Amino acid sequence: MSIQDLPKVGLGTWLLTDFDDLKQSIQTAWKTGYRHIDTAQVYNNEYDIGVILKALGIDRSELFLTTKIAPQNYLKHTKASVSESLARLQTSYVDLILLHAELGETANLAAYQALLDLQMEGVVKHVGVSNFSISGIKKLVEETGVKPYCNQIVCSPTTRPLELEAYCLEEGILLTGYSILKPYTTPNPFYPDSALTSDEKVQLDDLCKKYDVNIGQLLNKWALQHDYHVIPKSKNPKRVEENYQLDFEILAPDLEIIDGMNRFSSAEYQESVKQWESRVTEEQSEQGLLYKEHF
Ligand SMILES: NC(=O)c1ccc[n+]([C@@H]2O[C@H](COP(=O)([O-])OP(=O)(O)OC[C@H]3O[C@@H](n4cnc5c(N)ncnc54)[C@H](OP(=O)(O)O)[C@@H]3O)[C@@H](O)[C@H]2O)c1
Repeated sequence: MSIQDLPKVGLGTWLLTDFDDLKQSIQTAWKTGYRHIDTAQVYNNEYDIGVILKALGIDRSELFLTTKIAPQNYLKHTKASVSESLARLQTSYVDLILLHAELGETANLAAYQALLDLQMEGVVKHVGVSNFSISGIKKLVEETGVKPYCNQIVCSPTTRPLELEAYCLEEGILLTGYSILKPYTTPNPFYPDSALTSDEKVQLDDLCKKYDVNIGQLLNKWALQHDYHVIPKSKNPKRVEENYQLDFEILAPDLEIIDGMNRFSSAEYQESVKQWESRVTEEQSEQGLLYKEHF
């Protein structure tokens, strides 16, 4: 029987474009028990993921596969781009497909409707969004009557969009958090104010010692305990294994210490949503991002 629901922990693959690194991560993840892989048309690794899944003999029905529509494909090329994603991934369906980011109303709606059509055809099992705001989601629901299955959004101790999070959870829209570790490792380039201070890092390091876990385990568990699904990425096999070993509970006062590091306002989130639209030119929308193997 195939996996119906989004697994709580999956493997992120953004920036995993070196074939050997990607293969090692997927191989380790599969052996460790991960059953969800997250990719996107813009990650330029769907083709390699397809090759790797085939080479490893991974049973498609046991894997939950997510990809995302490139914003350049929303207006005119959504369906064609899904056909290409399926060909690159060497599969007849994806379990979850997301609009990668919120653009303008017309583009969002065109792409969302195209995905709902594909869902009727069985090519796509679930349709969701990523980097969407409350108003962006409301508009889609108003126009189509269909709630997205999930919203994949940035979530870290310093960048947690609380209002959006509460809205999604209330509406039964699953949350997936991404870049959970970024402010600890390297400052997230999209959120320059997100870097942790050295005091905050010490606090997190102390919590790691207390629970005898590493920073990946601590922060992914923190997100899970706030009802997120997580998709940690690592090219390091030991970290891939450890990021899945989350069999411990962070006590409420310690969750609060991490929660206290948040400095993300609704206005900042809204600002970050708007920036996606400005990154797509008319010419790009016209041409789309269509490719056979790599771009
Ligand atoms: N929808 C979107 O717009 C969007 C945006 C960003 C990301 N995503 C998805 O979310 C996934 C995760 O986000 P992300 O890749 O930005 O960040 P992340 O999972 O928070 O990881 C950030 C960095 O932390 C390092 N790391 C991983 N595990 C670690 C551990 N246990 N201890 C110490 N360092 C560790 C990794 O480096 P090493 O590889 O060197 O271990 C990685 O480059 C992505 O891969 C992608 O699938 C989606």
